[in-house]
Amino acid sequence: MIYLKTPEEINLMRKACELTSRVLGEMSAWVKPGVTTHKIDSVAKEFILDNGGRPACLGYGGFPGAVCIEVNEVVVHGFPSSYTLREGDIVGLDVVVELDGYNGDMCYTFPVGDVDEKVVELMRTTKESLYKGIAACKEGARIGDIANAVQTFCEHRGYTVVREMCGHGIGRKMHEDPEVPNYGRRGTGPVIKNGMCLCIEPMINLGSRNIVIEKDGWTCRTKDRKPSAHYEHTLAVLNGQTEVLTTFDYVKEVLGDRFI
Ligand code: MF3
Ligand code: CO
Repeated sequence: MIYLKTPEEINLMRKACELTSRVLGEMSAWVKPGVTTHKIDSVAKEFILDNGGRPACLGYGGFPGAVCIEVNEVVVHGFPSSYTLREGDIVGLDVVVELDGYNGDMCYTFPVGDVDEKVVELMRTTKESLYKGIAACKEGARIGDIANAVQTFCEHRGYTVVREMCGHGIGRKMHEDPEVPNYGRRGTGPVIKNGMCLCIEPMINLGSRNIVIEKDGWTCRTKDRKPSAHYEHTLAVLNGQTEVLTTFDYVKEVLGDRFI
């Protein structure tokens, strides 16, 4: 069941997404060698609570962190831990914030210090594929058009697309219908309509597309332990226009010329 939002609801989505974007900006200052992922999680939690939001991941299906932290081969749903970031790592920070009953959801994969150029290229391509997906998200088009745009862009560059995890609708709940896969055929799937709020989130691997879920029941990593990148925005379709509700501007402010 796809819930179409009213313009008033989309306004609340905008506010939730603005706070989500600011949280990601706050966290980015802590992405550096020597910092534990637990520290980044507590920075996020405190900032969310100080600004009247709720860290929506915390306790979701028993998830133990305020945010998901994805180091190197971790694709999604990594736990904050005592792991200390090292030069050459990459780390995805995936944050969902509920504000006044509506959710914003976004992710950015950061380099930690100097990163292997092959891995930087994976990150660039993954981020660019998110914008290819966004460009395909038009009122009257179909979800498969978004999926195909992401898939073809990444596969043509020699990367692989994780299939078991996908984007999603969003609103009062973090995960709503429809599913937004990162692979598929054009002209298939639900028609994109005014009032839809969607999360597009390519999860792209350097090696094979295969994943495994660790024994903790959550941590999803690449089977071959090669790196994976993940970027995500929340969008709304309103009056025939697609609006990106989250922004990487705050991340860019912090990273300066290290912004990918
Ligand atoms: N932020 C993730 C997504 O993009 C979901 C987080 S799962 C949770 O869908 F359990 F951590 F909340
Ligand atoms: Co999401």
